[in-house]
Amino acid sequence: MIKPKPLVAGNWKMNGLRASLNEIIKLNDFLGRSAPKCDVLICPPVTLISSIVQLNLEHVFIGSQDCHTNTNGAHTGDISAEMLRDIGCSHIIIGHSERRVGHGEDNEIVNKKATQAQTVGTTAIICVGETIHEYEAKKTLEVIVSQINSSIPSHATAENTIIAYEPIWAIGSGKVPTVGSVKEVHAVIRKVLVERFGNDGDKINILYGGSVNASNAHTLMSVVNVNGALVGGASLKADDFFNIISVYDQFD
Ligand code: PGA
Repeated sequence: MIKPKPLVAGNWKMNGLRASLNEIIKLNDFLGRSAPKCDVLICPPVTLISSIVQLNLEHVFIGSQDCHTNTNGAHTGDISAEMLRDIGCSHIIIGHSERRVGHGEDNEIVNKKATQAQTVGTTAIICVGETIHEYEAKKTLEVIVSQINSSIPSHATAENTIIAYEPIWAIGSGKVPTVGSVKEVHAVIRKVLVERFGNDGDKINILYGGSVNASNAHTLMSVVNVNGALVGGASLKADDFFNIISVYDQFD
């Protein structure tokens, strides 16, 4: 297969009411006028997904922020990958640190959820990242390699899998790692992906996430093996998010 386009993905987390649909409509209009060189995805809270899908937006993929490890059954309050696919999701974020930490999701659970997402035909965006303590103890690479090996199902392809490297200490903090550090971590992720998945491993998109904004996006997206961004806070407003997406217009 050909290498997928880079992806700039917005993770709205637990933010957004129906009035926020206007931001997505605005974003879609911006994208319609600019022909961006990357794919664009919004992962709103699940309550907004159906309404957004019904807008039939041409330029924005819609995804979810989580799914369950099972297809259906007695799991009160949970939502399966199959249900998300059924209402129009193309991607599902899996193993975000706010799920890993806040909901006790370990690599095994993340692997099962990713398998569900892939099985129903969505692309799993599998998140990895080290804590501040691991970073300070210089354990980043060790932690990331272990998360990559344990969290990614063995049937991963460039079509059904995207990796997001998000240092936990960089999320929502305004702090970002140095370019050298991002380069090093993404190179190691690429190496492990190629070892495990061969040619597909070479094509799987690896996103960087953690305090990406319009000022640092160009620098971060220029790093080798950074194939897009996972953006939280700066994805909530169409103008801010579009400024990040537009960085790709400056690349050949
Ligand atoms: P942030 O969040 O851009 O607000 O740091 C990123 C994320 O958690 O995916």
